[in-house]
Amino acid sequence: MLDDIIGERKADHIDVCLKENVQSQKVTTGFEDVHLVHNALPEIERDKIDTSLTVFGYKFSAPFFVGAMTGGTEQATKINAAIAEAVESLHLGMGVGSQRIAIDNPKVERSFSIVREKAPTAFVLANIGGPQLVNKYGVKEAKKVVDMVKADALAVHLNALQEAVQPEGDTNYSNLLQKICKLAQELDVPVVVKETGAGICAEDVVMLDAAGVAAIDVAGVGGTSWAAVEYYRAKARKDEASQRLGETFWDWGIPTAVSLVETVKSSRLPVIASGGIRTGVDVTKALALGASLASATYPFLGPATKSSEDVKKALGYLVAEVRNAMFLVGANSIEKLHQVPVVLTGKTSEWLTVRGFQPEVYARRKL
Ligand SMILES: Cc1cc2nc3c(=O)[nH]c(=O)nc-3n(C[C@H](O)[C@H](O)[C@H](O)COP(=O)(O)O)c2cc1C
Repeated sequence: MLDDIIGERKADHIDVCLKENVQSQKVTTGFEDVHLVHNALPEIERDKIDTSLTVFGYKFSAPFFVGAMTGGTEQATKINAAIAEAVESLHLGMGVGSQRIAIDNPKVERSFSIVREKAPTAFVLANIGGPQLVNKYGVKEAKKVVDMVKADALAVHLNALQEAVQPEGDTNYSNLLQKICKLAQELDVPVVVKETGAGICAEDVVMLDAAGVAAIDVAGVGGTSWAAVEYYRAKARKDEASQRLGETFWDWGIPTAVSLVETVKSSRLPVIASGGIRTGVDVTKALALGASLASATYPFLGPATKSSEDVKKALGYLVAEVRNAMFLVGANSIEKLHQVPVVLTGKTSEWLTVRGFQPEVYARRKL
């Protein structure tokens, strides 16, 4: 019964994301305030740029993976398979959506395990929800979801905003940090904590670092808004109160560029930049700000409903843009990209200054 409800909700999410505008409206990622300094004299050859890097022992051909999206339904099986085939062929990675639905229902496991069938060597992140760890699940279930996709890492997602704006939401987040700490101690794979579009602040990063997590995926504001998704779901069932909540909180959270800098400056953990990453220039800016990897989800939903070739094409465009941007800042490796100067302006610079981070340190970096 619960599985049916979750399955329906998953199908709704895909449907709403495909048909409605669920992107943030009044708040942006902040990447428009992040300026890479153009090199008129890059002194490198574009086609010899090495975009590869190794994170968690996996060699990514470019610093990018497709974010957690789905599982649990027939359509989700096709979407996961399409993404898996594409990332396998390009030596990239992907996350699967929340595996909660498959923990107690082996019938839907294949919608997730198909990822390993289609992507035997790609980097794969399993996925479990923070609120479910508070209320129900622990190390045993976390190991189960990791095994289900033979994952290289486990993502624990934080989605307080989404839970808060849906009437059936799990709004108990008490003692979650302790649960995350236990997973970090007892699992054989790295535990990555990820937001889902509202960002992570410096104070939370310090606590997560102390809890032993292996990486943080900031997933800030500027891309997909879960309040927006819930707004449309509420509208369809004529639930005025939830519709209003979704509208009010549509743009809630920390812009991705801000969250990224706060995170990079508050720990030595690898940081994943996500939330509204839409082009290879965004990826390049994120890496220049100190991210180890970037990720996007929404841009791959449409292509994944068509074919793995469509996903591959979308990924190919993005990687080509990363290569071009690296050329234009004179960085022939990711290591060099981490050292290029970046100028932060506008609201992003203002926010970081108010919060005690010095935006100008980026501008002083030397090649
Ligand atoms: C259709 C859809 C389903 C998603 N489902 C999950 C999920 O099950 N678990 C999770 O951690 N994140 C999930 N996300 C959130 C994304 O992983 C990501 O954090 C968020 O969409 C922001 O990135 P974007 O702006 O590139 O879409 C989902 C996103 C979309 C678009």
